[in-house]
Amino acid sequence: MNNAAANAAGDKAVPVMPAPAAEAQLVIDRVSKRFGEGPGAVVAVDDMSFDVMPGEFVACIGPSGCGKSTLFNIIGGLQEEYVGNVMIDKSRIAGPHAAVGMVFQEESTFPWRNVLDNVAFPLELQNVGQSERRDRAQKFISLVGLQGFEKRMPSELSGGMRQRVSIARTLVSGPRILLMDEPFAALDEQTRLLLGDKITQIQQELHQTTLLITHNLTEAVQLSDRIVVMTYRPGRVKRIVNIDLPRPRTSDVVSSPAFGKYVAEIWGDLREEATRGMEEAEAGAAARGKTARG
Ligand SMILES: Nc1ncnc2c1ncn2[C@@H]1O[C@H](COP(=O)(O)OP(=O)(O)OP(=O)(O)O)[C@@H](O)[C@H]1O
Ligand SMILES: [Mg+2]
Repeated sequence: MNNAAANAAGDKAVPVMPAPAAEAQLVIDRVSKRFGEGPGAVVAVDDMSFDVMPGEFVACIGPSGCGKSTLFNIIGGLQEEYVGNVMIDKSRIAGPHAAVGMVFQEESTFPWRNVLDNVAFPLELQNVGQSERRDRAQKFISLVGLQGFEKRMPSELSGGMRQRVSIARTLVSGPRILLMDEPFAALDEQTRLLLGDKITQIQQELHQTTLLITHNLTEAVQLSDRIVVMTYRPGRVKRIVNIDLPRPRTSDVVSSPAFGKYVAEIWGDLREEATRGMEEAEAGAAARGKTARG
């Protein structure tokens, strides 16, 4: 008899054991990063800790300059010197790591390659044979909704479509963690919302562990299971919010009262931080103006 059955049978002698907690796939453990030394040093990230469970979608949100990209670079292994630990499946990472697939804000498709060859590129590096390359690339092209565009060049696509090519190219190599830094920042709000639908569908199909870095509140609430709210410089964890909205989700969720409540709640935190950032920037500008005049 298992514990549950024993309990159901009224056998008080057998305690019901809680299900073992799943292990986090990505652990950010007391991570700090300072640039420079002395009075001019900038502490970009300060003692941040949080984790991401397998299959979970977590967003890190914070005002401009709060250290989001610094954290992204550390987790992606592009910033090798930092204090603390970034652990993926229990190994500390310091350097580029095959387990992490990165999607950047900037345009990153290869303009001289068509969609199929862009997406298949990581498989070429892995010496995967041509027909398998084509099949695997095709699967991810369909997943991001670009079937029929395989032979198009990036210049023939919209910005949103090009970002989908980048996402497909990152996913094709099967990263354990998908890491994205403001991937939709250059897109208009409507395209963002629709692309959000696509990301949600992909999430439902692949259960891809994902960490999204963003300053866009609607996007964060639309997509996430949890949101890590960061303070303005130095970037610390201000609060972690569980987004308890039903899945599957579509962009329709943005009109629900529950969605509005989350946005308002997190905006309360963010406004405080963004205001502090703006005041510091204004004070800095005023001081520079005084020095220049003086
Ligand atoms: N390589 C570097 N050398 C010196 N300072 C840096 C470096 N990279 C970032 N910084 C500083 O660290 C702070 C955090 O920068 P970061 O780019 O991580 O912020 P962010 O949250 O990504 O900002 P944004 O929203 O504008 O993209 C900023 O003050 C920035 O000037
Ligand atoms: Mg940034």
